[in-house]
Amino acid sequence: MSVTILKGTVVSAPALGRLDVTEGGYLVAEAGRIAGVFPALPGQYAGAAVEDYGDALILQSFADLHLHAPQYPMLGMGMDLPLLEWLNTYTFPTEARFADPDYAREIYRKLARELIENGTTRVCMFSSLHREATLILMEELEKAGVTGYVGKVNMDQNGIPSLQEETAVSKRETLLWLEQSRRFRHVKPILTPRFTPSCTDELMVFLGELAVERGLPIQSHLSENWRELQWVKELHPGCDRYWETYAKYSLWNSRTLMAHCVWSDQQEREAMAKAGVTAVHCPDSNQNLCSGVAPVRVMLKEGMQVALGSDIAGGDHLSMFDVIAASIRASKARRILDNWGTDFLTVAEGWYLGTSAGAAFFGQRPGFAPGNRLHAVVLEDGDLPQPHPLTAAERLERAVYRRQRGAIKAVWSEGRKVFSAG
Ligand code: GUN
Ligand code: FE
Repeated sequence: MSVTILKGTVVSAPALGRLDVTEGGYLVAEAGRIAGVFPALPGQYAGAAVEDYGDALILQSFADLHLHAPQYPMLGMGMDLPLLEWLNTYTFPTEARFADPDYAREIYRKLARELIENGTTRVCMFSSLHREATLILMEELEKAGVTGYVGKVNMDQNGIPSLQEETAVSKRETLLWLEQSRRFRHVKPILTPRFTPSCTDELMVFLGELAVERGLPIQSHLSENWRELQWVKELHPGCDRYWETYAKYSLWNSRTLMAHCVWSDQQEREAMAKAGVTAVHCPDSNQNLCSGVAPVRVMLKEGMQVALGSDIAGGDHLSMFDVIAASIRASKARRILDNWGTDFLTVAEGWYLGTSAGAAFFGQRPGFAPGNRLHAVVLEDGDLPQPHPLTAAERLERAVYRRQRGAIKAVWSEGRKVFSAG
């Protein structure tokens, strides 16, 4: 059986707000699954090859639970409009280009590589509505070592002429895509109604039935922007709250991800906690598009499942170090707006959200728990000046805020070494 042994300062997040640290520790995996983290190498592994990273940090890799692959070309651009205008002006035309498979290949190859170099090994990702480009995306992710879920987007109303499907075509292409994506091992399909305004009732019924019949996971957007909320009310006058427009079509369960939830009130948050729906907090995007400041710490306190997303290109950072730092800052902004009545996220909590909480959607236990698949990064921070000898927790804090270029030296995904610097 193949054994992987990594030696260094092993740090993981076994619970919200907690860090496990083993200095000079051994992270051991057998056949791609974690056997444990040990302060000394157990006798049974004597003689096995050890990859010794000295004092470097060995960390869980990241899970980015909400991003839009076809928006990668516009990363860092066009954030001067609110959501609905931003979609029509910048986003939809950018996504429309993915009708061209050659363009898709070029862009998605770059994206997959950049994700791995930044230590993101798990994703839940929106593609565009194009079946062929979606399959290309899945293929490029799989080749690069990114695992997780990718969704062909469904949108049969309120798009633009170059980015909208006929209802029947949307259904047919979705079925064909599901069939054709069987060949991928580490990248699986997730049903992706873009958001309620993008889908007719007929399409929502179809997707809900498909989710139930085939036990497929679901991802979409929820309560991101105030005008969006009003629009959804107009479109679905029978629904008191936005979440009901998903729940009524059976698109609301413990395998559902909902991005943003900035304006979800207490009832909507309760409905999420009760159904086990995961809220994906996307702080960069929420700020860039002036959507609002999501009450991320309150969501956690109320027992909701919460993970993090870069939401590129509403978000301007692909690196989850940035997203974690942004989530902490957003929680502090929320605290100020709440008249200091709510808590902010600690670094350990932010770290948990960007790693363990995301991995939970893939059935993993928190931290480097035995049995989990090996997803890890090696981070070298020895070059930074230090005010005093740093603890492992301080080093992690600095890794989050300094996000040094090139600090990630190696990456493992599903037990495979998928990146090695230099
Ligand atoms: N709502 C519907 N589509 C999108 C999108 O592409 N990005 C964001 N941030 N929100 C959306
Ligand atoms: Fe989004």
